[in-house]
Amino acid sequence: MAQVLTFDNPQEVARAAADRFVEIARASIDGRGRFSVALSGGSTPKRAYELLSSSEYRDKLDWSKVHIFFGDERCVPPDDAESNYRMTNEAMLSHLPIPPGNVHRIQGVGDAVANARLYEDELRTFFNDASWPRFDLIFLGMGDDGHTASLFPGSAALNEQQAWVAANWVEKFNAYRITLTVPAINHAAHIAFLVTGENKAERLAEVLNSESSSEQLPSQLIKPVNGSLEWLIDKPAAARLAH
Ligand code: 6PG
Repeated sequence: MAQVLTFDNPQEVARAAADRFVEIARASIDGRGRFSVALSGGSTPKRAYELLSSSEYRDKLDWSKVHIFFGDERCVPPDDAESNYRMTNEAMLSHLPIPPGNVHRIQGVGDAVANARLYEDELRTFFNDASWPRFDLIFLGMGDDGHTASLFPGSAALNEQQAWVAANWVEKFNAYRITLTVPAINHAAHIAFLVTGENKAERLAEVLNSESSSEQLPSQLIKPVNGSLEWLIDKPAAARLAH
């Protein structure tokens, strides 16, 4: 069952996300000696990432035990303005004492299918060839068309039942995106969506107010198999939700 937590503004959503990150990271490091997180791209999580690398938060964690992954990536070089790695690196990673080997980037240059396979191989090694990856935490965003990660409405990767990672052709961008698949996401221990702004309100209400799992609303396909699902949203995004 999903938990929806509503905050006054995007700053508070960012703070809640940073707090969850720290809390889950500490528990994972205490329990298993490491913390694996898959970060989302887009613009919404940037504030949370900046907060995590701020002087207030930075010292709360042993960053040598933190492994950073990505939920999706655009097929661009790592210094491109569109790169999720670039955003994350600038907002957070470059300011933290995190070993370079702990940052598991998705390659954006070259053949998308080969790069998806490369990333899946890296994940399979990290998760010791388990049947599915079990990230301690995955941050997700939601687009105003209901997509999450790079799982777009009606796109082929939505049907993927075996691969952990897919090169997903996205018609509206006329481009591939590389993305974790629905089952790979759903096997995480904790999943948190970060959604802010009134432009998301209508779609969010559709996603949360109906029980169906529609391929037209990929965010609805996110249902942890054995984990928690939280929606951290602000009041403008929550405006159309049933009370
Ligand atoms: C990406 C994403 C994507 C994103 C949503 C929301 O690479 O774009 O990971 O799924 O989270 O599009 O984006 P905003 O936060 O910019 O609204």
